[in-house]
Amino acid sequence: SAVTNVMVGAATKAARGLRRDFGEVEQLQVSRKGPADFVSTADHRTEKILYEELSRARPDWSFLMEERGAVDAASGAPGTPPGRWIVDPLDGTLNFLHGLPHFAISIAAEERGQLTAAVVYDPVKDELFWAEKGRGAYVNDTRLRVSSRSALDDAVLATGIPFRGRKGHRQWLEEAALLMGQVAGIRRFGSAALDLAYVAAGRYDGYWERNLNPWDVAAGVLLVKEAGGFVTDAEGRDRAMDGASVVCGTEGIHRALLKTLKTAGKTASA
Ligand code: IPD
Ligand code: CA
Ligand code: CA
Ligand code: CA
Repeated sequence: SAVTNVMVGAATKAARGLRRDFGEVEQLQVSRKGPADFVSTADHRTEKILYEELSRARPDWSFLMEERGAVDAASGAPGTPPGRWIVDPLDGTLNFLHGLPHFAISIAAEERGQLTAAVVYDPVKDELFWAEKGRGAYVNDTRLRVSSRSALDDAVLATGIPFRGRKGHRQWLEEAALLMGQVAGIRRFGSAALDLAYVAAGRYDGYWERNLNPWDVAAGVLLVKEAGGFVTDAEGRDRAMDGASVVCGTEGIHRALLKTLKTAGKTASA
């Protein structure tokens, strides 16, 4: 669609600068938004390019961006904007700053309160994950489908481990303790957007994480849905996009994950 083309164009342009910055991370200025919550000139620069490209193509759309927050439509038109861009210019900042080649640009389009298109672009591996509501999910030109695994025994899961400054350490430990005895493997690669994209691609069979924000997950949630996966919050509600908790996977893995997380919750509060 036209909207997807706009997103792909913006992501490709912004990725050029990101790739350049990744080659000279020592040159970047890094500051702290909170304990272990880093932001660099690369995050801001990328966000600026995305803002310029997206607002030029759709001047009447508003934004929710990680670094700038909620931003009104550039046109200043009154009334409810026809659409909103949800943008994480650099998902995986910590990887990026440590020279770990695993990070992405994440952009979602929301129209009438519904996610309609998504782009997650990994500029190092040159993998462009994209989806349109009702039209499927793709990486570059290849159609995506979640894996066919339905039992935890065979599953490789991704997760996010809460770090300094994030709450939920004990809860995560309880959950991981229960799950690690049941699955083939657990990975923590450090980019929520790519974790979701990899579930859509059938690389991971499931993924769970808590205390995220809409910009981390909006695009990935649509990717998983359009690849035939199941994605909810930890209570099983269609609220993953809020980011408070995200649980996803193939139908069977999603169900098993929800059940185990519930059990972990009981153990933790007992
Ligand atoms: C982070 C990544 C990471 C997740 C963190 C997020 P950022 O986003 O998605 O995988 O575990 O909680 O904050 O800050 O690198 O855009
Ligand atoms: Ca951040
Ligand atoms: Ca993020
Ligand atoms: Ca970010």
